Amino acid sequence: MQTVNVDLAERSYTVYIGSGLLGKEHSAFDVADGSTVLIVSNETVAPLYLDLLTRSLAGVNVHSLILPDGESFKTVGRWTQIIDKLIDIRATRDATIFTLGGGVIGDMGGFAAASYMRGIDFVQIPTSLLAQVDASVGGKTGFNHPAGKNLIGAFHQPTAVLVDTDTLETLPAREFSAGLAEVVKIAAIRDAGFLDWLEANNTAIMARESLVISSMIKRSIANKADVVAEDEREAGVRALLNFGHTFAHALETMTDYHRFLHGEAVSIGMMVAARLSETRRFCCAGFSDRLGALLQSFQLPLGVPADLDSADILETMKLDKKVISGSARLILIRAAGEGFIDSTSEESQIIAAIKASQTES
Ligand SMILES: NC(=O)c1ccc[n+]([C@@H]2O[C@H](COP(=O)([O-])OP(=O)(O)OC[C@H]3O[C@@H](n4cnc5c(N)ncnc54)[C@H](O)[C@@H]3O)[C@@H](O)[C@H]2O)c1
Ligand SMILES: [Zn+2]
Repeated sequence: MQTVNVDLAERSYTVYIGSGLLGKEHSAFDVADGSTVLIVSNETVAPLYLDLLTRSLAGVNVHSLILPDGESFKTVGRWTQIIDKLIDIRATRDATIFTLGGGVIGDMGGFAAASYMRGIDFVQIPTSLLAQVDASVGGKTGFNHPAGKNLIGAFHQPTAVLVDTDTLETLPAREFSAGLAEVVKIAAIRDAGFLDWLEANNTAIMARESLVISSMIKRSIANKADVVAEDEREAGVRALLNFGHTFAHALETMTDYHRFLHGEAVSIGMMVAARLSETRRFCCAGFSDRLGALLQSFQLPLGVPADLDSADILETMKLDKKVISGSARLILIRAAGEGFIDSTSEESQIIAAIKASQTES
């Protein structure tokens, strides 16, 4: 088993990563004697792993709530349902929520924990690769509103995160690749050595070789933990984690969240940002080709769909909540492993980069 500490003073916690962790005794499962636990999961993940987790919590007053699966259910109606369940089981301030599932379940259970009785503990047990390397660490929790994704939310750090890499065995290939996009992202913005490592190990990664996957998850989380420790509430450096995301959010919005998984849109968005970094001569020629080859080896898409108009994409980007007061604030690349915040790119330059990416396969 490997561990990463997320260093946030009194809100610090440990991420445990390894094979076969669910179903065994583990300090991440320790809760106060006689306290109540609510496991929040969904219809896909619960049949696979709920029994294992429940067994690990033997001796505790365990309840579970199984929600429907999908981003479209990340609504306030589900928040009410979790709160109702907590009231129903008479959960008090010492109760703990365990989230068992992908990022959707983690975000929803985390926000319920943030808001119930002004905040109770929660433990993240992420089961998708995206949630393991990204969503489960950092304390962002929330729900979608018809007017925008994650519009309702809070920062609420978990008390522990437990990543059992065995859960990836049941994860569909497309979801696995989508998680890899976030891994590439973190390497591209702050860890050049990790980028080299991903290239050298891409075959083993796609074969989901256990030790390689554990190392990859650990290094991704260690990088994210450093960023979060430095800037918990995204006042500065944490914004780098949005590399590719402003473009991705526009693509997701314009295709009603149906055509792309989030990681797939991020893959395309990173390619646009990399192209822009090159054409603006911030970065080394050849970087976007290198990034594209790696993303392609992870079976991720690279090109902006030809049916989406580049000017419309730019307009949609301007609506993103992270675009501050109208000026496009983009994460670009100065060198492999070195992202930075750029607010000097002109609209014509952004449109040109989008258009250049439309010819990508
Ligand atoms: N809080 C954060 O910092 C943060 C960061 C990134 C993304 N997110 C959020 O995370 C969500 C996306 O997360 P996601 O990609 O995990 O999506 P998801 O939770 O919808 O999971 C993807 C699919 O895989 C299934 N699944 C999960 N684990 C499985 C397993 N082991 N075996 C079989 N199927 C499994 C899920 O049921 C779902 O159908 C979005 O809502 C996004 O806003 C949050
Ligand atoms: Zn993302």
